[in-house]
Amino acid sequence: MNILAPSILAADITRLGEEVKKVDTLGADYIHIDVMDGIFVPSISFGIPVVKGVRKVTDKILDVHLMIEEPIRYIEDFVKAGADIVTVHAESCRHLNRTISRIRELGVRAGVSLNPSTSLTSLDYILSEADMVLLMSVNPGFGGQKFIPSSIDKIKELRRMIETRGLNVDIEVDGGINTANIREVLEAGANVIVAGTSIFSGDIESNMNQFRRELDRVS
Ligand code: DX5
Ligand code: ZN
Repeated sequence: MNILAPSILAADITRLGEEVKKVDTLGADYIHIDVMDGIFVPSISFGIPVVKGVRKVTDKILDVHLMIEEPIRYIEDFVKAGADIVTVHAESCRHLNRTISRIRELGVRAGVSLNPSTSLTSLDYILSEADMVLLMSVNPGFGGQKFIPSSIDKIKELRRMIETRGLNVDIEVDGGINTANIREVLEAGANVIVAGTSIFSGDIESNMNQFRRELDRVS
């Protein structure tokens, strides 16, 4: 089953609770929350209180994407706030193995994320410890950017890597996904789709319906 994770970075922040409830009702599987620190990525977005607030309005899986330096410092806070999946960037952790172990010790799922230019070889010694790999298909930091086409080959290669090793790891893809390119992303081997702008701008209901149709078409 393919999973849809609307990214609230593109939601109307003045009506965040309502918009989360709306995508929840319309079939979101996860709620994707982008945390940015202005150092690892140029922008600053949400923090722990926002995760806590979103937790109050939905029972869906909270998929927390940490775009922050040395995320190990805050993992426990995000788990206490209600995160169900905590994803960290390989590029931002001095001790990635320790960071992933800490996430799992706290009883939640652990994701490893790679920037577009980071090689899959950086997963060689961590893949079997991860529940999910998040491949960035734009440079992290902002919503509304254009999908980087080389991401397709990277998804295919990662799917092969996971299968060759006989692992059960989700592939999440994040950045620039819309109803025109989602099929290619799924067919390449991704099974968790993040979408911000193309869900929250315009008519959320019709966007969600189109996404769900595409997700259920390729299984
Ligand atoms: C980018 C974030 C994404 C972002 C995706 O740094 O990680 O989750 O919200 O937004 P869209 O779908 O607009 O590219
Ligand atoms: Zn994200």
